[in-house]
Amino acid sequence: MPDGSSTLLQRQPQTGIAEEALTGLRQEHKVLPAKLFYDAEGCRLFEQITGLPEYYPTRTERALLEHRGAAIAAVLRPLAEGGTELVEYGACTEAKAAILLRALAAGGCDPAVYVPIDVAESALEAIVARLRESHPRLAVRPVVADFMSALTLPIPESRGRLRLGFFPGSTIGNLEPASAQAFLRHAAATLGPGARFLVGVDLRKDPAILVPAYDDAEGVTAAFNRNILARLNREAGADFDLPGFVHRAVWNDAESRIEMHLVSRRAQLVRLGGETIRFADGETIHTENSYKHTVDGFRALAAAAGWRPSEVWTDAAGLFSLHLLAAGESP
Ligand code: AVI
Repeated sequence: MPDGSSTLLQRQPQTGIAEEALTGLRQEHKVLPAKLFYDAEGCRLFEQITGLPEYYPTRTERALLEHRGAAIAAVLRPLAEGGTELVEYGACTEAKAAILLRALAAGGCDPAVYVPIDVAESALEAIVARLRESHPRLAVRPVVADFMSALTLPIPESRGRLRLGFFPGSTIGNLEPASAQAFLRHAAATLGPGARFLVGVDLRKDPAILVPAYDDAEGVTAAFNRNILARLNREAGADFDLPGFVHRAVWNDAESRIEMHLVSRRAQLVRLGGETIRFADGETIHTENSYKHTVDGFRALAAAAGWRPSEVWTDAAGLFSLHLLAAGESP
């Protein structure tokens, strides 16, 4: 049975953010890695985005989990005789896991362990503190790590328990398709034979819905985008002039993705990590891609990564999908 305790945070090595940023900013078409968004302030702004009227993915996925949670637990129950270990990738908050944990408990899948994995250490500490209050019998084993790298889970091999990976929010859409495939392969190795993986995937749709979701009227997404520069100022001693960069969201139909950019308002020089970066007037830093898949397209991607696609749940409007994947016996 769960002992209700949580271990100290497990840390896995991370490259310095100045070096990561410079690698992208030295390129002809400047880029910054989207994972740099998620310091404590980035997590706070992203939380705010998830409540915006234009940003449909979070509320749609949440409703899917609420309404389909019992069906998900019913599919998993025969595999979860000895309980369930829930491993969440990219867990800035436990909000969606909490819905799933409730549904698993109600559906006889007895959640025993929860492993939230994220690069944002302070967000993980807050999750541990909240869950200690709300789920005192759940063992929480947080891991501070970039989930793109190979991981060792801080839980021993356990026969009879179902290991369920959970990657909600369509964060998989922020990965290039080849990286998404590599991630799914790593996850199969981390979770092990017999595991299941529940993945939230945003779907391709009318750009008239997509673009405002990434360029909201209140300007929260713009602040989220600019926070990547603010973070480099705070943590890496850069001197980005924040009002000197404008947020832009565009739909790239050929690539089936929303792109976020920061556009330089004028020719300017920025100092970072002992280097000077030159920006032309109108030059952009490409900060994020958010790929929008079709149901069949995502199933094909998962299959190419060695998973067996099984159930899919979507909302009535076809905005968002939840995919259950099954690991092969030897991933
Ligand atoms: C985290 N991820 C799934 C969000 C998305 O929709 O691609 C990040 C985001 N960027 C701007 N708004 C939300």
